[in-house]
Amino acid sequence: MLRSSTSLLAVLGLAAQTALGALQVNLDDQASIKAAAKLVAQDLVSFYPINTPGWTVGILPGPPPNGDYYWWQGGAMWGTLIDYWHHTDDSEFNDLISQAMIAQTGDDRDYMPRNWSASMGNDDQAFWAMSAMLAAETGYQDPPKDAPQWLSLVQAVFNEQTHAERRAPAGTQCEWGLRWQVYPSNNGFDYINTIANACYFNLGARLARYSNNNQTYIDLAERTYDLIKKIGYISTDWRVFDGGHLPNACKDINKAQFSYNAALLLQGSAFLYNMTESQKWKDELDGLLSGMLRDFFVDDVAYEPSCEPAVCNTDMKSFKGYLHRWMGSTMVMAPYTQAKILPVLKKSAQAAVNQCTGGSNGRMCGFHWTSGQFDGEVGAGQQMNVLGALMSLITPGTDIPLTNATGGTSVGNFNAGSAQDVNVVFAPVTTGDKAGAGIATAILIAGALGAWTWMSLD
Ligand SMILES: *[C@@H]1O[C@H](CO)[C@@H](O)[C@H](O)[C@H]1NC(C)=O
Ligand SMILES: *[C@@H]1O[C@H](CO)[C@@H](O)[C@H](O)[C@H]1NC(C)=O
Ligand SMILES: *[C@@H]1O[C@H](CO)[C@@H](O)[C@H](O)[C@H]1NC(C)=O
Ligand SMILES: *[C@@H]1O[C@H](CO)[C@@H](O)[C@H](O)[C@H]1NC(C)=O
Repeated sequence: MLRSSTSLLAVLGLAAQTALGALQVNLDDQASIKAAAKLVAQDLVSFYPINTPGWTVGILPGPPPNGDYYWWQGGAMWGTLIDYWHHTDDSEFNDLISQAMIAQTGDDRDYMPRNWSASMGNDDQAFWAMSAMLAAETGYQDPPKDAPQWLSLVQAVFNEQTHAERRAPAGTQCEWGLRWQVYPSNNGFDYINTIANACYFNLGARLARYSNNNQTYIDLAERTYDLIKKIGYISTDWRVFDGGHLPNACKDINKAQFSYNAALLLQGSAFLYNMTESQKWKDELDGLLSGMLRDFFVDDVAYEPSCEPAVCNTDMKSFKGYLHRWMGSTMVMAPYTQAKILPVLKKSAQAAVNQCTGGSNGRMCGFHWTSGQFDGEVGAGQQMNVLGALMSLITPGTDIPLTNATGGTSVGNFNAGSAQDVNVVFAPVTTGDKAGAGIATAILIAGALGAWTWMSLD
């Protein structure tokens, strides 16, 4: 039912391309950017069916086949909206954000609710944690005292993902690599992929800075980066690939390039550079940035090379927003990068806004920014992307993340999270769960096909 209402919107979108309310913005005027961002944020929240009776608090319609969105995209949406509040001071969505971010923490206060076990990847769990990290860094309102706190939630996720059960065993060639899926019964448990490791790296770097440059977190982040670089997921010419499988010693590298992988590594490297001021992290940062400007922008407009020439799935349709936001954050942590990044993000954001002419209100956004026109399909990812693009231009370089020593108020617990958490007893597997796991596999195949298509075009 929810699916069909989304399709209906898409149809309306096609019909209304010439409507009058097209999104407009003057990117040289901060007030204009904020006004446009408010509309895009409202349209984003319109995909959250909170007023549907019986709706589960915190999640977007899904997971497939019950709707288009996997659980993680809810976490990504709340993080995007925390960023919106932070950049604009507009608290319109804060009650929704807090309610959702607390509702999905799960029984063990670690962003791993049993309901979503069938598609629970380390990256899925980490996307909620990254939104909690942002809440701590921005001084977003703390949860009530009896609820789990932002920092301790991040620490719980990080601690659990440090545990050996989540990782490639000792003696294997990709030893210590973080697995994609949490549970052995899920497809993808033997896939050691970049996104899981990049999320962990990113959380480690940011936890370190928040906790007054804690060396344990710095070391774990660095070990992760060095590992995936050694395996070859980050190539010598700064391409960031998708991952490889444990039974193949991680050498069957899927060379699909998705911007969120690179953007997470870029932002994490910027945090590490800021803390350490070391040449190593400056070199990694510069290298990753040069690769990203080459591979994820066409004429300075954001583009997903491994799927956009063919078909991007619902997950992939949200990547451009993370690309913009985390490049924006990189300009804060490594101000010298602003000269390179800002002009590109500005051109990209203009292209993003130009195609927001769809939907029944005439200002919904599509995904193909380089095409110059609305592509006929609306979605939460599409709105998140344009919101991310606008926010990356609001007061660039001044929104410095807080730390425990500079005003951050979130309460942590170095021992949060459970040590043995993957041997839970599953509810009987339903058809829906099976389909979910199947779709997760299909994503991998689509990614590989997309990469192939792109290389053929190249
Ligand atoms: C899990 O599913 C049940 C049944 O639909 C629901 O009542 C509950 O709120 C869900 N929990 C979470 C954390 O989503
Ligand atoms: C944060 O600061 C408080 C007060 O100075 C201190 O008690 C606490 O241990 C610090 N936490 C971290 C994570 O450094
Ligand atoms: C670290 O970030 C702060 C805040 O933006 C900035 O002032 C400082 O210059 C950065 N340090 C380096 C080495 O770039
Ligand atoms: C740094 O983090 C580690 C790991 O969470 C923790 O055990 C340690 O106490 C922290 N160190 C300091 C100085 O806070």
